[in-house]
Amino acid sequence: MTDLSTMLPPALRKALDLLTDPPAEPDVSKGYLDLLNTPEDDDVAKNTGVIQAAWASTIGSFFYDNVQALSRRFIAAWQLPIDWLSIPPGGTALDVGCGPGSITAQLARAVGPDGLALGVDISEPMLARAVNSAAGSQVGFLRADAQRLPLRDQTVDAAVSIAVLQLIPDPAATLAEIARVLRPGGRLAVMVPTLRPPIDLGIKLPTGGAHLFSEDEIGDILEDHGFVSVRTKSIGQLQWVRGKLG
Ligand SMILES: C[S@@+](CC[C@H](N)C(=O)[O-])C[C@H]1O[C@@H](n2cnc3c(N)ncnc32)[C@H](O)[C@@H]1O
Repeated sequence: MTDLSTMLPPALRKALDLLTDPPAEPDVSKGYLDLLNTPEDDDVAKNTGVIQAAWASTIGSFFYDNVQALSRRFIAAWQLPIDWLSIPPGGTALDVGCGPGSITAQLARAVGPDGLALGVDISEPMLARAVNSAAGSQVGFLRADAQRLPLRDQTVDAAVSIAVLQLIPDPAATLAEIARVLRPGGRLAVMVPTLRPPIDLGIKLPTGGAHLFSEDEIGDILEDHGFVSVRTKSIGQLQWVRGKLG
């Protein structure tokens, strides 16, 4: 009998070794390892708002991919604190809610040829773009829900989640999952948009299904899950939160 795992791209083969529950017949027909649609995933809360619906569509993912490329080129606040993450060469880095994969590609450059950068997302069009632009020998993509990461405990050296937590029905569950899969000392950088009207009009405006975090909300959750040296910085309408697992 053929061992199916030997037929996988190298990065996905490495990823299989890190999974809690590796599938007997991995579905990599679209270039990423599809781990969604298990009965357990039915129990995970879903975001039904218009923003996530856009990111789950072909046109929305095309639009986002182009906007993020321009924003990252010209706006310093969008740029990942890659040096601060202290990713060890040959290590494993995780991009939670990777979208079109440009951050995952940055992580891949940091882990180097012997390392592994993994991007996780639920949107098929986003993952298709990620595979197209960034998949390679040390970069692989998984389709999974961030509220239920498919990785074993303490398998990751650094993690990021950029412009994602606001869309997740249970962001605390995602941060708990990241804490579970990070190795002690591993670093996490999170960014969320905090788009609020400049003046409080006292009315609740529609948010498209996105959560607006209060100033210390993410930092407090990180501390509850064992992160230390937690720092929160707001730059314009973006909030960055960083921490190191104690
Ligand atoms: C605004 S995009 C950000 C993409 C990427 N992090 C970046 O900075 O370019 C948000 C991404 O989060 C993903 N996402 C939303 N909810 C998710 C969930 N529960 N699990 C995994 N990914 C999720 C969306 O599909 C989308 O690709």
